[in-house]
Amino acid sequence: MKTLKYLLIIVVVVLVSSGFYSFDKLLQEKWDIPEKYVKMKNPTYANQENLIIGKALYIKHCLSCHGKTGIGDGPKAAEFDTDIGDFSSKEFHEQTEGEIFYQSYIGRRDMPNYEKKIPDPKDMWFVVNYLKTLEEFLKTQKWDIPEKYVKMKNPTYANQENLAIGKALYIKHCKSCHGKTGIGDGPKAAEFDIDIGDFSSKEFHEQTEGEIFYQSYIGRRDMPNYEKKIPDPKDMWFIVNYLKTLEEFLKTQKN
Ligand code: HEC
Ligand code: HEC
Repeated sequence: MKTLKYLLIIVVVVLVSSGFYSFDKLLQEKWDIPEKYVKMKNPTYANQENLIIGKALYIKHCLSCHGKTGIGDGPKAAEFDTDIGDFSSKEFHEQTEGEIFYQSYIGRRDMPNYEKKIPDPKDMWFVVNYLKTLEEFLKTQKWDIPEKYVKMKNPTYANQENLAIGKALYIKHCKSCHGKTGIGDGPKAAEFDIDIGDFSSKEFHEQTEGEIFYQSYIGRRDMPNYEKKIPDPKDMWFIVNYLKTLEEFLKTQKN
């Protein structure tokens, strides 16, 4: 009788502990990330060109497990009984880019290490840039503009001659998306599910000219990079001058 009682206790203990064990496995344990990585700055721009590289690398190396949209539903995901993560979640994007870089490059357990398969760390930063675009709430995210650009002074005059150049360049390069009056109603604008901006709005013109220059020249996500298409930055400043004339409320604003 006594042995049966002990046996029963043992069975209960084993059942409970194994139950807890699998429960523990299902929950995602916090990553223990070295401070060096947590604070690491992304050395790349999230412009369209780099995002295309990041997306291609993601499709090649990551999609099989993390899925097309990054929610963790790739064909191989079912093999793992750990939580694979959700790249569209708020929690994921509350991490620093350095933390995301560490998880992606160093890995742990079933998450592979990529230091050999992707030898240039810059390529993994491109993937990180791409992961950052997978966030639903990013659609309205503010631009993260380097201080150098925020403070940049417009080196050109907004005189009639320069404005005519700016307008011609705007019509050639920008109108298809941003529209004739800059309110974001160009024929291509419908392709994007993000807010393309409104150049006639007060908010837009409350930015510094340097900020507008950065958005226009460097770009991000679906906003193209123009460093190659418009090689002389002065030409982009002419466009910025022109954009400044598109502000509706300035027309009636008192000095
Ligand atoms: C073979 C399947 C597999 C592939 C391929 C894969 N991962 Fe993972 N990944 C995982 C698993 C499993 C986890 C969860 C690991 C854990 O928590 O122990 C994970 C976790 C992560 C996390 C942390 C998610 C979070 O919210 O905690 C990031 C970031 C990540 N992977 C990025 C990538 C990137 C970038 C690639 C491609 C370069 C990639 N992964 C390729 C399986 C994979
Ligand atoms: C292929 C379509 C497309 C073209 C062409 C394009 N843009 Fe954009 N632009 C976008 C999209 C999409 C956004 C929103 C990007 C985001 O928020 O991630 C944007 C955002 C911007 C912004 C920031 C607006 C804001 O309020 O946040 C500026 C400034 C801008 N574009 C300037 C320009 C200029 C100048 C040109 C031409 C030299 C141009 N764009 C050409 C698609 C385009």
